[in-house]
Amino acid sequence: MSAAQFNLSPVSEVMGAAIVGEDLSRPLTPAIIAQTRQAFLDHHVLVFRDQHMSPENIHDLASIFGDVEQHKVRQEDGSRWDAVHRITNLDDAGNPVEKPFFSSTYFWHTDKSFLKTPALLTMLHAVELPPNGGDTQFADMTKAYDALPDATKRRIEGLKAVQSLEFMRRYTGSAPASEDDIAAAPSIVHPLVRTHPETGRKSLYIGMYCSHIEGMPEDEGRALLEELLVHATSDRFVYSHAWKDGDLVFWDNRCLLHRAVANYEMGKYRRVLMRVVVKGSRPQ
Ligand code: OGA
Ligand code: MN
Repeated sequence: MSAAQFNLSPVSEVMGAAIVGEDLSRPLTPAIIAQTRQAFLDHHVLVFRDQHMSPENIHDLASIFGDVEQHKVRQEDGSRWDAVHRITNLDDAGNPVEKPFFSSTYFWHTDKSFLKTPALLTMLHAVELPPNGGDTQFADMTKAYDALPDATKRRIEGLKAVQSLEFMRRYTGSAPASEDDIAAAPSIVHPLVRTHPETGRKSLYIGMYCSHIEGMPEDEGRALLEELLVHATSDRFVYSHAWKDGDLVFWDNRCLLHRAVANYEMGKYRRVLMRVVVKGSRPQ
């Protein structure tokens, strides 16, 4: 291995790799960028340890992968997220709460799948962590698809799921979407099985934004979506990331589901992560 490269160590048997000793706040060499891109495709979740990133640093890093998402959905106070924002369990007054406004992050999803061009990747950087827990889980939708019985693969081939922010807010028991949110993000149809634009692998494209299956009776579609979600999020497809101070993690939204885990005292401890999302292409 040349000196221009970093070492990777797997973080689980399912997916994910950790990198120690790389400082992402500095401009990256073409060799490091190429290695990072390949590692991202191979491992789906990359964990860079001991980072100290400013919002500008994380924006620059994200920009290497594509266009940074500008957010349209409104927060509790009516404002919208900045391109680089914080995801927290805090209320408007800055106090930790059991049920934050964006508590839907605690349900399985893939970012921005209610948009025509959903997220390619999301980056999170640990700013404040609870003393224990507050994990993020990732589920491998390629492995989950591959493990389906052939009859199920045939059954779901060519199906399309209707995805919507409005449905998600109801499904997760969150604050209802406003008229303005719905106008900014009307429901959209995506293939239930998508093909990764870079690896060519098929994966399930499901999660909390999926309301029903196009052209199928609603009950039947819901039952199918729930059955696929239970299968796809079983332990054998899941990696749980236990955060460490300084972690910078990014993952491939095109082939994974993820969720936050409420395995900490949410009403007592602060959990703050710096976040940026990179736009992807239309799922095919
Ligand atoms: C996100 C997300 C999970 C977490 O940032 O998109 O779902 O663990 N976060 O906070
Ligand atoms: Mn998310």
